[in-house]
Amino acid sequence: MRVAVLASGGGTNLQALLDTCRGSAPARVVLVACNKPDAGALDRARQAGVDTHVIADPADGPAMTAVLQQYEVDLVVLAGYLKLIPEAVVAAYDGRMINIHPALLPAFGGPGMYGMRVHRAVLESGATVSGPTVHLVDPEYDRGRIVAQWPVPVAPDDTAETLQQRVLAIEHQLLPAVVLNAAIAGGVTRLLANGDSFQASSGGSVTLSDTLHQPNDR
Ligand code: GRF
Repeated sequence: MRVAVLASGGGTNLQALLDTCRGSAPARVVLVACNKPDAGALDRARQAGVDTHVIADPADGPAMTAVLQQYEVDLVVLAGYLKLIPEAVVAAYDGRMINIHPALLPAFGGPGMYGMRVHRAVLESGATVSGPTVHLVDPEYDRGRIVAQWPVPVAPDDTAETLQQRVLAIEHQLLPAVVLNAAIAGGVTRLLANGDSFQASSGGSVTLSDTLHQPNDR
């Protein structure tokens, strides 16, 4: 499965994918595209020998579609990409574009809810559980159908920063799990929490507990 990753920032989730999708893995990152020329994600891609692209105008749907088609992309992963995807691109990759969000959607999402704001809102709400969500992308921010979630407890003395770190460590395991499962299943499939591991909702025998227990050093 040929994967394109779109990012705007540091790209630690991209790194998790680069580290997972190599060797004999069934998925490969073939393109990293950023709307910021100085995004750390571009350096990570170059370091891994993956082609990069700077998106000159994030609202230019035809240009974005052309690049994705040029690389024969099967799956588009938004990993910290902060711009809205043009509707034509969303339509072209319907069911084949996913985003990772650092809270349990449908709460704590939507326009303006990104970065530390999400974790502050979780703490202010008094919620006792947070955790990342991977969802399909539709024309609205953070509203597409949910593919996978993993609970992360909120600690009594959490700050937005400590909560962010705990959720991010799980993001680095959840996103590769979804991508590998999509590659094996031949499309994005909902993952259901099953004890301390996942099962594909397609009924396949794919269990990704190994991915969920790798040490995290990103
Ligand atoms: C992550 O928290 C992700 O959930 C959100 O943006 C952040 C990106 O972090 N969409 P990184 O660039 O992958 O380090």
